[in-house]
Amino acid sequence: MSFILAIDQGTTSTRAIIFSSKGEPLHTAQQEFPQAFPCDGWVEHDPEQIWQSVLNTCREVLAKSGISANQINTLGITNQRETTVIWDKSTSVPIYPAIVWQDRRTAPYCESLSQDAELDEYLRQKTGLLLDPYFSATKIKWILDNVTDARTRAENGGLAFGTIDTYLIWKLTGGRCHYTDATNASRTLLFDLEKQQWDPHLLETFSVPQTLLPEVKDSADEFGLVDPTLLGAPIPIQAVAGDQQAALFGQTCFEKGMAKSTYGTGCFMMLNTGETPLRSNHKLLTTVAYRLNGQPTYALEGSIFMAGATVQWLRDGLQLISHASESEALAKKASKNNGVFLVPAFTGLGAPYWDPDARGAIMGLTRDTGIAEIVAAGLQSVCYQTKDLQKAMESDGARPITLRVDGGMSNNDWVMAYLADVLGAQVDRPKITETTALGVAYLAGLQAGIFENFSALTSLWKIDKSFTPKLTKAERDAAYSGWCQAVERVRQH
Ligand code: G3P
Repeated sequence: MSFILAIDQGTTSTRAIIFSSKGEPLHTAQQEFPQAFPCDGWVEHDPEQIWQSVLNTCREVLAKSGISANQINTLGITNQRETTVIWDKSTSVPIYPAIVWQDRRTAPYCESLSQDAELDEYLRQKTGLLLDPYFSATKIKWILDNVTDARTRAENGGLAFGTIDTYLIWKLTGGRCHYTDATNASRTLLFDLEKQQWDPHLLETFSVPQTLLPEVKDSADEFGLVDPTLLGAPIPIQAVAGDQQAALFGQTCFEKGMAKSTYGTGCFMMLNTGETPLRSNHKLLTTVAYRLNGQPTYALEGSIFMAGATVQWLRDGLQLISHASESEALAKKASKNNGVFLVPAFTGLGAPYWDPDARGAIMGLTRDTGIAEIVAAGLQSVCYQTKDLQKAMESDGARPITLRVDGGMSNNDWVMAYLADVLGAQVDRPKITETTALGVAYLAGLQAGIFENFSALTSLWKIDKSFTPKLTKAERDAAYSGWCQAVERVRQH
């Protein structure tokens, strides 16, 4: 019997899951950790708390499973992407909190560069991304410019940069390995998509010294051995992938044209575009889906910042519900076509608008609007935003042939039915919706020889439920045009 340990280090919580050699999740441990919002638009994590949550969940899942660390054949790490950590190589102590992907502090800097059309085009061609505070490069620059002596220490080779995968590899291997994988590297705004290496011109543009950067490996590769004093055995780390790419892999979207949409904190729709990168003309991102044996497979991605986080806000901010699961029953009570729209631009708008200064709004309120209508509008906003992405993909000539959904909110039948309605397309939900951890477990299992090939993995994908559209085209168009008008009213750029 083989076992795979997957670490899923997300934006709000960390999970450690032990999978069987058939891809079944056997045991899970989960821990939330604090979010810090020190200024308007800033979002930080304490890297030490992230690390402790990883250690705790790994230890807990091993303890409760009765499986010893010696029985774990392989380990994979999947992570919130773009979030930036810089630490001292000799002490492993971070020099500043992790600047989270949602953080908008570098918006003015991005704005100051945005007049440079040549740079804009260079970024699009080289990295597949666009100039936005979302990505790591401007976060690295901010830390080096704002922490005393940081730039000198970096230039002298004393500091290391990493996205969360890299920081965890560093900690798990006792500071021996400074690696990342191609999927995470492709989110930094510093990585050449086609050459698959750090781009010297961009390092210069963003004033990032080369010595800070990790070596970029395949998504299934040798990332070092876990220091045995941590978990009890030198488990090999054999897979690393950004969480959205891991979800695509876990959904076995191995064919060009297959797409998945993950509803976590945000929503990320990703379409496999095969072995050639497809540049978007509609502000979607071109990214590495996975890289195996040196060969990258590319994807087109639409990133929305607020999905599950909107429900979290309805719960914690407005206190309209006391548990996310109540939202489904409430939404069912809302009057149909009530004209209420909630635009969750709390930290600006992501794809396809990329407007860091837009702010949220609820519109169309009338005297008979109640909690049910506002909650329904919050849930519907997630569907409309997915529609925005679907339209952008279509305009780029890349209509998904299938859409597979996963993540916490995909278990909400009301949302998934409305999603199918708004998209006018079938939506498939698999039996296992923890596809992020599953994807990196598959990658680690491939590297360890537990799974033979893609077809072995494809045969493990099992459908739970398909949702088919019920709205007429006229009804769908009317609802979506209401959404588009609402978005127009909150936009600044
Ligand atoms: O790009 C950010 C993304 O990787 C975060 O994912 O699941 O933590 O919301 P999640």
